[in-house]
Amino acid sequence: MGVTDVIRENWATRLGFILAAVGSAVGLGNVWRFPFQVGQEGGSAFLVMYLFFVLLIGLSAILAEFVVGRRTELNPVGALREVGGSSWRYLGGLFIVIGFVILSYYSVVAGWVLRYFVGSLTGGYFGEPEAYFVAIATGTDALLFHAIFMALVIGIVSFGVKRGIELTVKSMVPLLVVLMVVLAVYAATLPGSAEGYAYYFSPEFSVIVNDWQSIVPAAAGQAFFTLSLGMGVMITYASYLGEDRNLGFDGVTIIGLDTGIALLAGLVAFPILFAAGIGAADPGAGAIFVALAGAFSEIAYGQVLGTVFFFAFALGALTSAISLMEVVVSYAIDEHGMERRRATAVIGLGMFLLGAPVTIDLVMVDLYDILAAQILLPLGGILLVILVGWIINEEMVDELSRGIGDLGSLGVAWIWMLRVPVVLVLVVSLGLAVMGYVDFLTGPFAEFLGSTS
Ligand code: TRP
Repeated sequence: MGVTDVIRENWATRLGFILAAVGSAVGLGNVWRFPFQVGQEGGSAFLVMYLFFVLLIGLSAILAEFVVGRRTELNPVGALREVGGSSWRYLGGLFIVIGFVILSYYSVVAGWVLRYFVGSLTGGYFGEPEAYFVAIATGTDALLFHAIFMALVIGIVSFGVKRGIELTVKSMVPLLVVLMVVLAVYAATLPGSAEGYAYYFSPEFSVIVNDWQSIVPAAAGQAFFTLSLGMGVMITYASYLGEDRNLGFDGVTIIGLDTGIALLAGLVAFPILFAAGIGAADPGAGAIFVALAGAFSEIAYGQVLGTVFFFAFALGALTSAISLMEVVVSYAIDEHGMERRRATAVIGLGMFLLGAPVTIDLVMVDLYDILAAQILLPLGGILLVILVGWIINEEMVDELSRGIGDLGSLGVAWIWMLRVPVVLVLVVSLGLAVMGYVDFLTGPFAEFLGSTS
């Protein structure tokens, strides 16, 4: 049985596609990365820019990926070759590389989530939320849980994703939302939470004006990362669609859910961090872990809530990781004729090794994460948007209208959106990101290298 047979089966239920796409979108990006970026990039100033990018770019870019996938029914490399001609297959190749890089460090952070799940069961982090994070985020603990998470992903993907994705997403999304609401309500009752809300909700435009060079690429990167855009996940998932769905409606649903869950994570994190006197910026990549561990140590039934929460959180990370892995695996099978299990094991091992250095120091998370989210994803996004907007636009508008009906001027608006504003904004953002990354490499990263030698 080839990969396409296995996957086509997956979307046999009407909900399969949308659940898989939501499962891919909702993950560490919402609960970990979003609050971490808000904290680093000036709070509500970042929030405003991020919402702007989601609205401006999110829908038009997700639709661009959907139509390419549904039209061709192929993996990203094959799909781009078919719609664009043979040199566009290199863009597909870039997508495969990006998937490889992202999952390598994604798995390290997801390993932290697994570690916190265990820590909730044993009460390991109770009473010392900050020290606990520092202890487990790097070193052998981190490496071990990175290995465990990667093994889980390999296990699920090598069996095909049918039951894995559909079942976990069906239970995970509602569970995660309910628990986040409970935690947000708890956070609201904390003395000192007002400071957290102020940080999160009152945009100071002076911050945007002063720091736009770092806020713009960070916000664009977050929009791509959280919506799983810029590396062909949505191409791959849409390639298994048999039916004429209304892709516009699906896109809005996915984006709405994903954004809502991220906003909720901020409502949990900031009141707790400020109430605890930690503030936003200090814990960096550990922000949400420290905030949550602090909360679970304090509240009634915290241990039970914590256990359930980190379980749901881990499932969210898993359904996203599966989508990253599936892009690379489907490519190896389709284009190189590899057997599925073998492909998954080899690729997973490679990703594990590439991610291993991330467990050395937290600065390594930035090294991988900024490169992937702020540079590689927008680059992939720009190239795809140019292809769809300028080169194959007529065929793609036609594809979008399948399942919607006559698009009228909406089709034209979509294409022009892709052609000019999306490309322009992303090119600016990418340029800024490259400059920021050079600063990072010559600054904090060089310092880190200096301190170890
Ligand atoms: N969107 C997921 C999250 O927020 C991560 C993810 C899955 C992803 N697939 C992706 C990010 C593709 C970028 C590209 O956790």
